[in-house]
Amino acid sequence: MSEVAPISSRKSDHIRININEDVDSGLSTGLEHYRFIHRALPELDLEIVDTSSYVFGKRLKAPLLISSMTGGTPEATAINRILAEAAQTTSVAMGLGSQRAAIENPDLAATYQVRHVAPDCLLFANLGAVQLNYSYNVDDCQRAVDMIEADALILHFNALQETLQPDGNTQFAGLAKKVAEVCRELSVPVIAKEVGWGFSKEDIRLLEQCGVSAIDVAGAGGTSWSQVEMHRAQNHNQAQLAAAFIDWGIPTVEAILNVRTLAPNMTIFASGGLRSGVDIAKCIALGARLGGMAKPFLKSAVTSLEDTIQTILTIQRQIQVCMFASGAANLAELHVEKLLLP
Ligand SMILES: Cc1cc2nc3c(=O)[nH]c(=O)nc-3n(C[C@H](O)[C@H](O)[C@H](O)COP(=O)(O)O)c2cc1C
Repeated sequence: MSEVAPISSRKSDHIRININEDVDSGLSTGLEHYRFIHRALPELDLEIVDTSSYVFGKRLKAPLLISSMTGGTPEATAINRILAEAAQTTSVAMGLGSQRAAIENPDLAATYQVRHVAPDCLLFANLGAVQLNYSYNVDDCQRAVDMIEADALILHFNALQETLQPDGNTQFAGLAKKVAEVCRELSVPVIAKEVGWGFSKEDIRLLEQCGVSAIDVAGAGGTSWSQVEMHRAQNHNQAQLAAAFIDWGIPTVEAILNVRTLAPNMTIFASGGLRSGVDIAKCIALGARLGGMAKPFLKSAVTSLEDTIQTILTIQRQIQVCMFASGAANLAELHVEKLLLP
């Protein structure tokens, strides 16, 4: 392998490693410290419990996001197609993986394009925010949005991951003002997203000043990109560098609470280590509008469309049963008082 892998080979590595290796963070999300207060007499009929909501003007049947993962390769095309068809069938939201490969080689745009199978889906474009320090501008962001007819753009912030990749893009100085420019000029809302290490209070203050419309906390407790990069390392020293960060990051719950404290009016998407509808329901009760999952959907998508749809329906049912058994008839009633706090 050449010292700096091209984007497509990196994307193939990511899929292979995430499926075959243990890449979990050494930290937990923090959700295990919270329990719903059980209602033996919820005074509700299960089937009227309503898990639907509107996000960026689109109706979702469940507050669920298939988190950004892939694109740029034939395998990614198949995965994206399955995820999008499943999202359309079940009315949940979906993010595409980083579109840098297609910005740099427009022939790859089709590997991300899923509107033809998901005409109604709440769909998010995706680019690494740091590319704004490497010659990308608002026009490139708009290109990513238009390429997939997205409803919003996710800018992902992956400072630590970049440092662990050979020849990663590590110039993060002065980035906030460029993010602010994108927020001002793009035709759709901008969502700031981490990739599995969460956002600190300082970060949230900066992102709010930038004018982002939502923050996807992508906290620690699930997929760890230092672990992924450890498995991709080309020599012992690179592997050792990455291995030291297994316990790094801000757990998902702490990151949600950071947003709630610092930017109480910010739309919050929760992700990072969510593995069931109960996890998502806890995040909603803590203030999130959506819960996102990546790894569980990568695993179902490489199995089949049917498996992916069934995975979504099971998560949706878990959310509904959780709401029923805690006495919440709709998502607005799924608030923090339903939880026993640690
Ligand atoms: C195979 C794979 C590829 C990913 N690629 C991207 C990406 O291109 N852009 C991004 O913002 N996040 C990316 N992520 C991060 C996820 O969106 C998510 O934030 C992270 O995996 C934590 O969620 P999880 O614990 O449910 O996996 C990727 C995750 C996986 C598993």
